[in-house]
Amino acid sequence: MSVLSDRSAYAINPILEEDELAEQLDRKGKNVVKLNRGDPPVYFKTPKYIIDAYVKALREGKTYYSDATGIDILKDAVQRRYSKMYRLNIPTDGIIATAGISEALQFLNDVLINPGDKAIIFKPYYTAYIPRLKLAGGEPLFENYDEKDEWNIEIEHVMESIKRMKANGKMKEVKYMLITNPNNPTGTVLKKSILEDIAEIANDNGIFLVSDEIYDEIVFNGAQFTSISKVAKGQPYMILNGASKDFDATGFRLGLMLLPESDRLSLELRERLRNFAKVRLSVNTSAQYAFAEGMSNEKEHAKAIKYMVGEIEKRVNYAYGILKRNDYIEAVKPNGAFYILPRLKMDMLKVKDDKEFVVKLLEKEHIQLTRGSGFGAPNHFRVVLLPPKGILEYSLNKINDFCESISK
Ligand SMILES: Cc1ncc(COP(=O)(O)O)c(C=O)c1O
Repeated sequence: MSVLSDRSAYAINPILEEDELAEQLDRKGKNVVKLNRGDPPVYFKTPKYIIDAYVKALREGKTYYSDATGIDILKDAVQRRYSKMYRLNIPTDGIIATAGISEALQFLNDVLINPGDKAIIFKPYYTAYIPRLKLAGGEPLFENYDEKDEWNIEIEHVMESIKRMKANGKMKEVKYMLITNPNNPTGTVLKKSILEDIAEIANDNGIFLVSDEIYDEIVFNGAQFTSISKVAKGQPYMILNGASKDFDATGFRLGLMLLPESDRLSLELRERLRNFAKVRLSVNTSAQYAFAEGMSNEKEHAKAIKYMVGEIEKRVNYAYGILKRNDYIEAVKPNGAFYILPRLKMDMLKVKDDKEFVVKLLEKEHIQLTRGSGFGAPNHFRVVLLPPKGILEYSLNKINDFCESISK
């Protein structure tokens, strides 16, 4: 018998699955193009005014543990951002800083999930949602983003599932419903009408809503982003956000759990989450000063985000144009974040699944992608579209050539 816990086997991340093979190839001098990690600072430097604030904080000796839930000036900056962007008042107690959304997901599941409980998760999902839920003893109840409706939510299906669960007396087990908007891996910005339906369903059935809005400013091609706060009608909900994407600072490891409402559940959650935060003492103190400056210096942020989103829009559309020439795949055009999730036309290709596709592509063309099945979307693959046009042109043409070479 192994001394290891059974649940430890749930800790997998498909995004990093081919790293070892990529490293081996790199060691042989193959120069793998890595389009698997959504890491903006690799291609867009973290803005200088944020770096300066970080260095200043370090020089001033802000290297101690801070308040477990975050420093005051970070919370002030969050309040101002949400008030300005969404006319949303978030009480100071409703803000908890975490070590990235990655840690927020751990807290979310640990605070809500008892063994056997369920969470409604939409496929394709961001990879970390599933291990975090399972490690807490929970099970996902899958609903779908609908590829035929540009990856919006299949509302009717959600309503039918809930009706079925109600009839079987299973609703009590459902602890939360998690949406990702804009979405990773599809790059979809959800329609406002869909979000209104989701809020209504959650309200009618007493389901706690969680909205991962980490890409809320990375929206383009004319799309309009709607925060869950705009459609929630007094019901308890949580927004997840952080420094990683809009502020181009993945390595700061700073996330935010936001509980704007003051109903009983929200108050209880705040208290428990505060205790969770205390157990691990603090998040990165100097990085919090930098993140606070990132949000507070609106003029500099506006410049930085405008440039980054403008570039991302150009790169995504350019990449989409190249992938469209490929007869062996089909892709929905993204309008947010910086990913695309094309579908492989498996009946035209000589590979058994998306895993074999990404491994063979890596071995033959030295391009590293992520298999769609890792996001709950078998027969798809995800490409990170952050690199400049030259790299995208080179890699996406390689993908197209590779598809041709394995065609039936
Ligand atoms: C939708 C989504 N949520 C959360 C994360 C992780 O964020 P963090 O860097 O804050 O842990 C990512 C990272 O790619 C993401 O795409």
